[in-house]
Amino acid sequence: MNVLTATKASGRVRVSDLQPEQANFAEEVAAGLRQPQKTIPPKFFYDARGSQLFEAICETPEYYPTRTESAILQQRAGEVSELVGAGVQLIEIGSGNSQKVRLLLDALKPASYMPLDISRDHLVHAADAMSRDYPWLDVHAVCVDYMQPTFALLPRSALRKLAFFPGSTIGNFEPHEALAFLRRLRGLVAPGGAVLIGVDLKKDAGILNRAYNDASGVTARFNLNLLARINRELGADFDLAHFEHDAFYNEGIGRIEMHLVSTRVQNVCVGGERYSFERGETIHTENSYKYSVAQFQVLGEAAGFNEVRTWTDVNQLFSLHYLAGPEPE
Ligand code: AVI
Repeated sequence: MNVLTATKASGRVRVSDLQPEQANFAEEVAAGLRQPQKTIPPKFFYDARGSQLFEAICETPEYYPTRTESAILQQRAGEVSELVGAGVQLIEIGSGNSQKVRLLLDALKPASYMPLDISRDHLVHAADAMSRDYPWLDVHAVCVDYMQPTFALLPRSALRKLAFFPGSTIGNFEPHEALAFLRRLRGLVAPGGAVLIGVDLKKDAGILNRAYNDASGVTARFNLNLLARINRELGADFDLAHFEHDAFYNEGIGRIEMHLVSTRVQNVCVGGERYSFERGETIHTENSYKYSVAQFQVLGEAAGFNEVRTWTDVNQLFSLHYLAGPEPE
């Protein structure tokens, strides 16, 4: 049973620690590599090096989602504020996107800001920085695994809630998981609150393929870092010279797939277990689902929201959805 403890991280920030269970890297890697289609869950991309590489991806000219979403937010923050009203509690799901939440803060002037993240160090660091830059803001950070059904354990507040989930991270969920997650978000913000969520759009396959195969090779390094991390942390012997990054848009399913391809027949030892690879065999490392505006609106409605507003950029690359209601009787 997780225990709630509240501590002071700095003079101004409150931190509640729900003591989320950390993933068992060794077990999950072994389970994934034993499958006929070898897989490694994408959540393991984000060690310190992987997080740096992800930030670098966001800066590449080909990876349009980050800057496009920021531009939409900058343009629409005032409208969001009018829709949700004054004095809300702004809950950021995953605190890796502090830059984007800053775009909302000035327009929204929330009564309280609650970032949620599984990494306590990262959370406290980000919350402290936010509190320093917005001295008027009440910051209450919560260390929690937002992928687990633990929203009911969050510290309670009578304020109306706006949950912010940017970056199209929802695209990394399978569609049935995305629906279940939206339902949980609806429970989190009820009654009377709303969800603001960034979703990458279906588009020309060339644009998508370039976004995940940038010319400078940052995405390839991000993908291969997974093997380097397994070598570092699990004492494995992946030879990075004999694996290649592969990312492509699977138009039939509507998702980018990322794989690591073995370029020759080889054996790899991970945690004392040996895994054999055929030439051309892959480890599937990520799916990134793309939605049409209509598809995502249907998903929002299926999750129980009856008010859906959507904004996109002029090129229809990215969408920002405001999901609310139904209002309590
Ligand atoms: C975090 N997530 C939304 C990114 C995406 O586009 O699916 C992860 C990523 N993988 C390769 N490039 C970016």
